Amino acid sequence: MHAQSVRAISECHTLATFTEEPAHITRRFLTPPVHAVHTHLRQRMEALGMTVQTDAAGNLRGIHQPANAPAKRFLIGSHIDTVPDAGPFDGILGVTLALELVEIVQERQLPLSIEVIAFSEEEGVRYGIPFLGSRAVAGTFDEKLLAYEDADGIPMSEAIRSFGLDPTQIPSAAIEPQQTLGFLEIHIEQGPILEAEDLQLAAVTSIVGQTRGTLTFTGHANHAGTTPMHLRHDALAAAAEWITAVETHANSTPSLVATVGKIFADPNATNVIPGTVHTTLDLRHPSDPIRTVAVEALIAQAQSIAQRRGLTAQFTQTMNEPAIPMDLALTANLTAALESTGLPARILTSGAGHDAMILAARIPTTMLFLRSPGGISHHPAESVREQDVEAALHVAANFLERIFATINNT
Ligand code: GLV
Ligand code: MN
Ligand code: MN
Repeated sequence: MHAQSVRAISECHTLATFTEEPAHITRRFLTPPVHAVHTHLRQRMEALGMTVQTDAAGNLRGIHQPANAPAKRFLIGSHIDTVPDAGPFDGILGVTLALELVEIVQERQLPLSIEVIAFSEEEGVRYGIPFLGSRAVAGTFDEKLLAYEDADGIPMSEAIRSFGLDPTQIPSAAIEPQQTLGFLEIHIEQGPILEAEDLQLAAVTSIVGQTRGTLTFTGHANHAGTTPMHLRHDALAAAAEWITAVETHANSTPSLVATVGKIFADPNATNVIPGTVHTTLDLRHPSDPIRTVAVEALIAQAQSIAQRRGLTAQFTQTMNEPAIPMDLALTANLTAALESTGLPARILTSGAGHDAMILAARIPTTMLFLRSPGGISHHPAESVREQDVEAALHVAANFLERIFATINNT
């Protein structure tokens, strides 16, 4: 499968050229370069004889349905949006590999119906809400989200219409769980563990829970030269104190990761004391109760820092996704596939969020991770090794044969 793995990688590099910012890879939900990604992937799907459509949430979906195959489909895919200044593999590699798998299944004449889904949105960059594409596919898209506005004041419903789609049709994007065999997402690990253990691949057993939200500190803007230090209500100084408290809290809680990744100060001028600061919180832990307690503690800490400084602090939650296990039977098929390909049956928990989190709540779901060189992701230096991509194809093809054998035995 050397040629297919080389092509899966080169397709990622080609798709990386479809970007909002010429020198970087940045592709937010339904922005213009997504049209180019769809056109490119659609051509490849059609060349494979697949039936292709774009659903109302902007997910590109290709169906391979052999005449002699049962109608129930196995889903494979990942997302095509990116974080700002991203690497070329997060998400998209799971789509290019899915298309290689369709070709392999065709060559092996395996009578298995497969739907490849290129999810439109997973990162949450444009609207602050992640998993827009997979929520629509899972049938859990909340139509209130359509009123959310991006940084330019464009409501989500408008972004969907401008892409040529009808947001009122989003409910029809939902899968029928009874007509679905399961979902496989192939993704880079985005962390250092496999590399440290000199391993190529792992099956994922669960995905950690995540809370995201915005923390706003409101003080008073005033003159930077005339306001004595003891009479200030500096929102940025309060935010700075809280940000280091977040880091300290995460450092002292095993397995907790907490990140303040965004900060916006108003009025953002050198000679004005900052009056308002918006920061974000991204907090993750394998245990939901520990995550909930940590979020509550950090909000309380923000409020006490704000109160001591004569400010207010307000938290608005934008995401609260529970930790979710992958399907036991599917994951057992994946570890068996690893072993029959001569690889150790390594299992991992995912610290990153994935579309698989959302689908796992509706249908049997599992994930296959590939080693991330240097453990680097969400960064232009993100990479993969060709031999790992080839191994992933061998394992996933073996996994699909097992899925086919299972449905034939039932
Ligand atoms: C998705 O990339 C995440 O932030 O986990
Ligand atoms: Mn990502
Ligand atoms: Mn991803």
